Amino acid sequence: MTTATLNSVLPDTTSQRQQLRSLIRKRRQQLSAGAQQQAATDLAAKVLASDIIAPGQHIALYLANDGELDTYPLIQALWQLGKSVYLPVLHPFVAGYLLFVRYDKDTLLSPNKFGIPEPFPACHRLIPLQQLDIIFTPLVAFDAAGNRLGMGGGFYDRTLSQLPPESHCQVIGLAHNCQQVDAVPGEAWDIPLKQIITPGKYFDFR
Ligand SMILES: Nc1ncnc2c1ncn2[C@@H]1O[C@H](COP(=O)(O)OP(=O)(O)O)[C@@H](O)[C@H]1O
Ligand SMILES: [Mg+2]
Repeated sequence: MTTATLNSVLPDTTSQRQQLRSLIRKRRQQLSAGAQQQAATDLAAKVLASDIIAPGQHIALYLANDGELDTYPLIQALWQLGKSVYLPVLHPFVAGYLLFVRYDKDTLLSPNKFGIPEPFPACHRLIPLQQLDIIFTPLVAFDAAGNRLGMGGGFYDRTLSQLPPESHCQVIGLAHNCQQVDAVPGEAWDIPLKQIITPGKYFDFR
């Protein structure tokens, strides 16, 4: 078999990842408004019933985009509990990295270049990565080994690679049940997740 034929039979990892992204993004975009709402409520209940939140004060979440699991009911519950909530913001000077910025009820948001609402990264609102107790990350697809496929920008891979291995910070993926796949084709730079929560299941790979 020639290399060209082999390539047409076995697409490379990059195109496998692209195909998987597009399939799973469509799948989650097709969830009805009612299903999204139920998923968001179930997620908040599941997280609050676990022992994840109690020891942490500084918690990073994301605002849902592209059919992602809606975190807003969870964010509201965390505010009620007096927790400090942070959102990711595209780093204004270092391309490809995220900063985490305090998000309160009255914080103004404006859309970034992807149309995702962000708080303004004022210096006094930033939290150093290593001071976060929990980072909840969005994802496109995951598998039962904790491998994570994102939207393709590598923002979380780059940013999380700066966490020291001994960091106490828990990084937890959030996703709809329908985003689980048999296997995510991995790349060397991908940072796997040790915990993933869906509205139906808590995966703990530690
Ligand atoms: N730690 C890193 N340092 C530099 N570039 C990185 C790092 N992590 C990921 N990247 C780059 O980001 C790009 C997208 O990564 P990928 O894992 O495909 O995206 P995603 O995690 O969003 O699915 C790749 O070109 C990759 O080389
Ligand atoms: Mg990646």
